[in-house]
Amino acid sequence: MVSETRLSPENLIVPLFVVEGKGVARPISSMPGQFRFSAEKAASECADAFNVGIPAALLFGIPGKKDEKGSSAWDANGAVQNAIRAIKKKVPDMVVITDVCLCEYTSHGHCGVLKDKRVDNDATLPLLARMAVSHSRAGADIVAPSDMMDGRVAVIRRALDKEGFEETAILSYAVKYASAFYGPFREAAGSSPAFGDRKSYQMDPANAREAVREALLDIEEGADMIMVKPALAYLDIVSKLRLAIDAPIAAYNVSGEYAMLVSAAQRGFIDRDAAMMESLVAIKRAGADCIITYFARDAARMLAHKK
Ligand code: PBG
Repeated sequence: MVSETRLSPENLIVPLFVVEGKGVARPISSMPGQFRFSAEKAASECADAFNVGIPAALLFGIPGKKDEKGSSAWDANGAVQNAIRAIKKKVPDMVVITDVCLCEYTSHGHCGVLKDKRVDNDATLPLLARMAVSHSRAGADIVAPSDMMDGRVAVIRRALDKEGFEETAILSYAVKYASAFYGPFREAAGSSPAFGDRKSYQMDPANAREAVREALLDIEEGADMIMVKPALAYLDIVSKLRLAIDAPIAAYNVSGEYAMLVSAAQRGFIDRDAAMMESLVAIKRAGADCIITYFARDAARMLAHKK
């Protein structure tokens, strides 16, 4: 009766890795219980999630071929584009969000194009816009740029409007730290940088005021929602932002956070379900409106049984 924070399946977003082909459900070894799915399997997963009350999915594409520029990212028949269409056909009311970033598509694994072994911020912007437009054309409701190039929200907004996608929303990964907790994701997507790291474009874990600055800039550029990532080591950032901005905040409970909890539970060191629910409630308590989590379906099922 006096509980201050209530978690509901409606707060959860399910992340899905999608690949080309048919009938594929390939397990991800660093993330027990998670798979890479082909389009029709991803649609079934979404139907399953939607039935337990989860309103949205976030898609990551794993392309068949990578090149210097990441050109599979805007292929009208790419893994993500096909998955969007399959999901929209099977579960029309599911909100489809797509990750917009080149790292899964480039041969060097960086989030932008290179010039003399450095990521070229401005040369990357039109490519991100092209990717976002391609996702919208396939039916995405929200595009979520996670590349961390400066100025990309404005460029994506302009491109979407120009192509007639005024209603596509932008969920900006405005506050994305250069984190070791993305390790399992990079294995899943084959997106580890071939050299160097992402510290020239992702944020320094030591910085909190910068998070507010980044979020305000992105809102000014046209972001509709703001993401904080990772979640658990950055709850102070979520709560600081909650006071500083009034746009909806999404927090991303990332792959490393999932893998830590699941592997400790597998060894019997921790109670999986209890630790999962405690983590998710904590993220909501900090001020997140929605939580992107690999636990989405498990948590939604548990919440349904509680009622
Ligand atoms: C970039 C992207 C990453 C994640 C989401 N989008 C990886 C990175 O920045 O290296 C990580 C998500 C997770 O760890 O669950 N496309």
